[in-house]
Amino acid sequence: MTLPEWRVFADAGALVAALAAAVCDEADAAIAARGEFHLVLAGGSTPLALYRALAERHAGDARWHVWYGDERCLQADQPERNSVMAEVAWLAASRIPAANRRPIPAEQGAQEAAALYAGWLAAVADFDVVLLGMGEDGHTASLFPGHDWGDAPDSPAVLAVHAAPKPPPERVSLSAVRLNRSRRVWFVITGSGKREALLRWKSGEALPASVVHGKQETVAWLDAAAWPPGE
Ligand code: 6PG
Repeated sequence: MTLPEWRVFADAGALVAALAAAVCDEADAAIAARGEFHLVLAGGSTPLALYRALAERHAGDARWHVWYGDERCLQADQPERNSVMAEVAWLAASRIPAANRRPIPAEQGAQEAAALYAGWLAAVADFDVVLLGMGEDGHTASLFPGHDWGDAPDSPAVLAVHAAPKPPPERVSLSAVRLNRSRRVWFVITGSGKREALLRWKSGEALPASVVHGKQETVAWLDAAAWPPGE
């Protein structure tokens, strides 16, 4: 198992500033090389500050394409939706065209949404940057311990997730194999609540987060609170 680079910042503010700059730098590099930038957004609460920082930088334009690593099966306008969080914090006010911002249609139910999203992703090559959070049990996106992580070579690109241990129980998630089709995978992990899972990951335990890695780079962007003392 390849462990990520552990990149530790003094606090979440320093992490967010560095990460927002890195996202923009990667966008410039991808656009210079291929004319477009494909970014996968993380859900949960941790990336909210990053999306606000990208909004402050007026980040994004018509050459950006925004995807989601997972979504909660709630109505499209529900504030608990990962897509609504990102739209409100950054995307709705950005210069990224609505056609380039692709929420997972999770309001249609996990099965239907997974099939639809897989169809949209079929036309997309490798992502440039995949952003992911991590839960206290080591889950990432909506890939949970005890569930299918989609890390088999023949796994589908998108999974319908049922009975998820983190509410809501019905979710949609990109599989590990599809998330791994990315140049860079960047985990954003803050707070002492994540220490135990990080220790388990560092010890080589197989966790959902441990089977997701980029082709060129895998980095865990951490604040000091999350980093186990003495490590
Ligand atoms: C979700 C997320 C999930 C999240 C982790 C961490 O929809 O809930 O995609 O994987 O990233 O649970 O959540 P926090 O950032 O809120 O700790």
